[in-house]
Amino acid sequence: MRAVTISLFGFLLVIAATIISFCDRNSNVLCINSERQALLKFKQHLIDRSNRLSSWVEGEDCCEWFGVFWNNFTGHVKELHLGLHSSSPDIELDDERDAYFRSKLGGKINPSLIELKHLSFLDLSNNDFGGLAIPEFIGSMKSLTYLNLSSAKFSRAIPHNLGNLLKLHYLDLGHNSFFEAKTLQWVSGLSSLQYLDLSDANLTKATDWLQATNKLPSLVELHLSDCSLNNNDSSSISVNYTSLAVLDLSSNMLSSIPTWIFSLRSLVSIDLNSNAVEGAIPNGFQNIWLSNLNQLQFLGLGDVGLKGNFSSAIGNLSSLTHLDVSRNGIDQEVSEIIESLSRCSLDRLELLNIASNKLSGHLPDQLGQFKNLAYLFLSRNSISGPIPFSIGKLPSLKLLDVSYNQLNATLPKSLGQLRNLEHLDISNNMLEGNLSEMHFSNLTRLRLFWASNNMITFKPNPSWIPPFHCESIELRNWHIGPQFPQWLQFQKNLSRLDISHAEISGVIPTWFWSLSTQFEYLNLSHNHLVGGISYLPKSRTVDLRSNLLGGIESLNLRNNNLFGEVPSILQHLANLLILDLSENQLTGSIPAWIGDKLLGLVVLNLRSNKFQAYIPDQICALNSLQFLDLGYNNISGAIPKCFSNLSAMATKPINGILDRLVLEVDPSNWFYLGALLVMRGREDEYSTTLGLVTGIDLSGNSLTGEIPRELGNLKELRSLYLSGNLLTGQIPENIGNLEVLESLDLSMNRLHGEIPSSFSNLNFLNHFNVSYNNLTGKIPSGTQLQSFDNFLTLAIFFADLQSLKIAAAIAKHLN
Ligand SMILES: *[C@@H]1O[C@H](CO)[C@@H](O)[C@H](O)[C@H]1NC(C)=O
Ligand SMILES: *[C@@H]1O[C@H](CO)[C@@H](O)[C@H](O)[C@H]1NC(C)=O
Ligand SMILES: *[C@@H]1O[C@H](CO)[C@@H](O)[C@H](O)[C@H]1NC(C)=O
Ligand SMILES: *[C@@H]1O[C@H](CO)[C@@H](O)[C@H](O)[C@H]1NC(C)=O
Ligand SMILES: *[C@@H]1O[C@H](CO)[C@@H](O)[C@H](O)[C@H]1NC(C)=O
Ligand SMILES: *[C@@H]1O[C@H](CO)[C@@H](O)[C@H](O)[C@H]1NC(C)=O
Ligand SMILES: *[C@@H]1O[C@H](CO)[C@@H](O)[C@H](O)[C@H]1NC(C)=O
Ligand SMILES: *[C@@H]1O[C@H](CO)[C@@H](O)[C@H](O)[C@H]1NC(C)=O
Ligand SMILES: *[C@@H]1O[C@H](CO)[C@@H](O)[C@H](O)[C@H]1NC(C)=O
Ligand SMILES: *[C@@H]1O[C@H](CO)[C@@H](O)[C@H](O)[C@H]1NC(C)=O
Ligand SMILES: *[C@@H]1O[C@H](CO)[C@@H](O)[C@H](O)[C@H]1NC(C)=O
Ligand SMILES: *[C@@H]1O[C@H](CO)[C@@H](O)[C@H](O)[C@H]1NC(C)=O
Repeated sequence: MRAVTISLFGFLLVIAATIISFCDRNSNVLCINSERQALLKFKQHLIDRSNRLSSWVEGEDCCEWFGVFWNNFTGHVKELHLGLHSSSPDIELDDERDAYFRSKLGGKINPSLIELKHLSFLDLSNNDFGGLAIPEFIGSMKSLTYLNLSSAKFSRAIPHNLGNLLKLHYLDLGHNSFFEAKTLQWVSGLSSLQYLDLSDANLTKATDWLQATNKLPSLVELHLSDCSLNNNDSSSISVNYTSLAVLDLSSNMLSSIPTWIFSLRSLVSIDLNSNAVEGAIPNGFQNIWLSNLNQLQFLGLGDVGLKGNFSSAIGNLSSLTHLDVSRNGIDQEVSEIIESLSRCSLDRLELLNIASNKLSGHLPDQLGQFKNLAYLFLSRNSISGPIPFSIGKLPSLKLLDVSYNQLNATLPKSLGQLRNLEHLDISNNMLEGNLSEMHFSNLTRLRLFWASNNMITFKPNPSWIPPFHCESIELRNWHIGPQFPQWLQFQKNLSRLDISHAEISGVIPTWFWSLSTQFEYLNLSHNHLVGGISYLPKSRTVDLRSNLLGGIESLNLRNNNLFGEVPSILQHLANLLILDLSENQLTGSIPAWIGDKLLGLVVLNLRSNKFQAYIPDQICALNSLQFLDLGYNNISGAIPKCFSNLSAMATKPINGILDRLVLEVDPSNWFYLGALLVMRGREDEYSTTLGLVTGIDLSGNSLTGEIPRELGNLKELRSLYLSGNLLTGQIPENIGNLEVLESLDLSMNRLHGEIPSSFSNLNFLNHFNVSYNNLTGKIPSGTQLQSFDNFLTLAIFFADLQSLKIAAAIAKHLN
C-alpha cells in the first residue's frame, strides 16, 4: 500500500491543483473533496498532542490519512478508526504512561462529520474528551452500523436520538461518565443491534432496562457491567432474548441471581461476578438452573454469595471453558469440585478460579487430567497436603496460584515440566524440603515466581543457570544462604526481588548492582549482608534493614529520575561517606536526619533537585563534611550561621579521606568527584590534592539575608559559590580569613558596599565573580586580584555602573 502511494506521489503533484486524488491507480477512485474538507475541519477542533493525525493534510494523499478508510469505488469516507487500542501501559513506567496519555485525542467533535453521509464505522474509543457530551448530531448519521465511543471520557446524558440509528449493529458506549439514565426506551427500536455495551452508566432509575433490551431480536452481546442495576421488580417480565450469547451483568446490585438467565439456552457466557446477592443459593439451583446450559462456556459467579456445596451444580456444563466461582462461601472438599469438573469438561476447561472460598482437603491426582487448563486459581482456601505429582502433566498451564493455603510436604519435581508456566504463586503455605535445579528444569517462560513464607531450602549448584528470566521473584523466609544466590545474576529482567529473611551472609556481589537499572521493589532486609553499596538502582522501594551494610561508603544516585522526598531508608546507611542525590526531581525539605544519622558524610551533593524550605541546622553537625553542594534547588531562608561548625572545612583534614575513597569507589563516582575539579581546570592534580579539596555551593537558590560572618571560620574552604540568590548586605570583612580560597562566586545577588580590604589575603584566588550586585569602591590594593599572572581562569564580570568603577581601577592598574 505504501509502495503504491509513493510511486503515485509524482503523479499526484501533476494533478495537485485538481480536487480529486486517487486511492488506487487501478480502480481510478477519488476522495470526495467535501468529505476531505469536513475531515480537516473535524481535525481542526480536536486536540492531538501526539500528532496522530499529522497525515491529514490538504494536498497530501488522502488514502494515506491515518484512520480514514475511503470507499475505493465511490470515494466516500466509509470508516473512521480513531480509537486508541493499545492498552494502558504499566503505570509504573512514567515515560510510557505519559506517551500513552498524550496519544489520546481530545477537544471538540465538530458537526462537520455529518458531511460524511456514507460513514458506517465510527470509532473514537479510548480517547479523552474531558467530560464532553456525546454530540446530538451523531444521532443523524444514519449510515452508521458501528459506533464505538467507549472509554472516551464522555459525560452528561446519553442522547436518546441514537435510537434513530436503525442500521446499528454495534453500539459501544461503555466506560464513560454519563449522568444517570432514566430510561433505555430509546434502545428498543434498534432492531439490527447485535452488540450493546453501556457498562458504567448508572441505570438505577432506568428500571425498563430489561424490557428495552429484551425487545432486540438480533442482540447477541449485552454488557451492562457496573450499572447499579437491581432486579427487585423484574420478576414479572417474560424474558425471551432469542439470540443472546453473551450476558455481562457483573458488578451490579442484583439481589438474587435472576432465574430467567437460566432459560436462555443460547447463552455461551454468563458474567454475574460481584453482585450483592444475599444469602445462600436457592434450593434447586444446582439441579434445575445450570443443567439447561450445555452450551455455556464462560460462567462468572464470583462474589455473588454462593454458599455450601457447589459441585453438583456443574454436573451438566459440558461446554465449560471458564469457571469463576471465587470469593464465595463454597464449603466442601476441593476434590469434589475437581471431580465434578472432570466428569463434564475435562478436555475443555481453560480457566478455573475457586480462590477465596472455604475449600478443604487435598488436591486430587485427577488435576493432571485437564489437558487444556491454563489458569488455575486456588488461593485463600484451607487446602492441605501436597501439590500432586500429576501437576506436571498440565502442558498448557500458564498460571498456578495456590497461595494462602495449608499445603505442606515438598514440591513435586514434576513442577519443572510446566514449560508454559509464566506465573507461579505458592507463597504463604507450609511447603518444605529441599528444592533442586530439577524443580525448574523446563520453566523457560516463568516471569513471576512468588513463593515467600514457606520452609523451603534452595541451594542449587553455584554454576546453575536458570532456564527462566523472571520479572519478579519473592522468596522471603526461605533457607537460601549463607551464600548469596549466584543464579540471580542471570535474571536480567528483574524489577521486583524479595530475598529477605533468607539467612544470606557476606558481601553483596558487585554484579548484583548492575543486574537491573529498574528495580521497582528490592528487599534484602534481615540477612547478614555486610559491606557497602556503591550504587542503588532506580527503585521505588528499597529495604536493606537489619544487615550490616554501609561499611564501603558511597551512595551515588545521581541522575536517577528519583522523585518524591528523600527515601528515609537511607537513614540506615549510617557509615555513608558520600551521598550524591544530585540531578533528580526530589522534593520536600532537605531531611534533617541527614545531620542526625549520616554523621560520617564527607560529600553531600543534592544539587539540581527541587528541594524547598530552609537548610536545616542539623547539617552543621556533619563535622567530616568537605563538600556541600545544594546548588540549583528552591531553597529559601538564610545561610545557617552554624556552618562555622563544619570543622572539616575549618581545619586541615587528617590523611585526606577522599584520596582513599577515589581509589575504592567505582568509576562513576570518580567522575563525579572529578567534575568538581574539572570545573576548576585542575584535573591533573586530582588524585594528589583531593584530600584537601573542600567546597560549598549554594548557588541558584532563593537564599536571603546576609552572608554570615561565621563563614569566615572555614579556613580550609577552597571554593565558595553563592551566586544567583537573594543575598543582601555587605561582603563580610572576614572573608579574607579564607586564606586557601581558590574560587569565590557571589554574583547575581543584592550585595552592596565595597569589596573588603581583607581580600588582599586571598593569595590563591583564581576564580572570582561578583558581577550583578551593587558593589562600589575600588579593588583592595595588594590583592591577588590585581595580579593576573596567577589566574587560571579570569572570571571577573562587571555589570552595573558602580562595578564599572572597579573595572576602571583594574584597567588603570594594568596600564
Ligand atoms: C481500497 O484501496 C486501498 C489502497 O489500494 C486498499 O488497501 C484497500 O484494500 C482497498 N479496499 C477495498 C475495500 O477494496
Ligand atoms: C470498542 O473499543 C474498545 C477499545 O478501544 C474495544 O475494547 C471494544 O472491543 C470496542 N467495541 C466493539 C464493539 O468493538
Ligand atoms: C446511581 O444513581 C443513584 C441515584 O439515582 C445514586 O444513588 C447511586 O449512588 C448512583 N450509583 C453510582 C455507582 O454512582
Ligand atoms: C418477547 O417478549 C416481549 C414481551 O416481553 C414480546 O412483546 C415479544 O413479542 C417477545 N418476542 C419474541 C420473539 O417472542
Ligand atoms: C432494590 O434492592 C436493593 C438491594 O439490592 C435495595 O437497596 C433497594 O432499596 C431496592 N429498591 C427498590 C426500588 O425496591
Ligand atoms: C444432565 O442433563 C441430563 C439431560 O441432558 C439430565 O437427565 C440430568 O439429570 C442432568 N444432570 C444434572 C446433574 O443436572
Ligand atoms: C456435595 O455434593 C456432592 C455431589 O452431590 C456430594 O457427593 C458431596 O458429598 C457433597 N458434599 C458435601 C460436603 O455435602
Ligand atoms: C501435612 O499436614 C497434614 C495435616 O494437616 C499432616 O497429616 C501431614 O503429616 C503433613 N505432611 C507433612 C509432610 O508434613
Ligand atoms: C524438558 O527439557 C528437556 C531438555 O532440557 C527435554 O529433553 C525434555 O523433553 C523436556 N521435558 C518436557 C516435559 O518438556
Ligand atoms: C537438604 O539438603 C541438605 C544439603 O544441602 C541436607 O543436609 C539435608 O539433609 C537435605 N534435607 C532433606 C530433607 O533432604
Ligand atoms: C523481559 O520483560 C519484558 C517485559 O515483560 C519482556 O517483553 C521481555 O521478553 C523479557 N525478556 C526476557 C529475556 O525474558
Ligand atoms: C545600590 O546602592 C546604592 C547605594 O550604595 C543605592 O542608592 C541604590 O539604590 C542601590 N541599587 C539597587 C538596585 O539596590
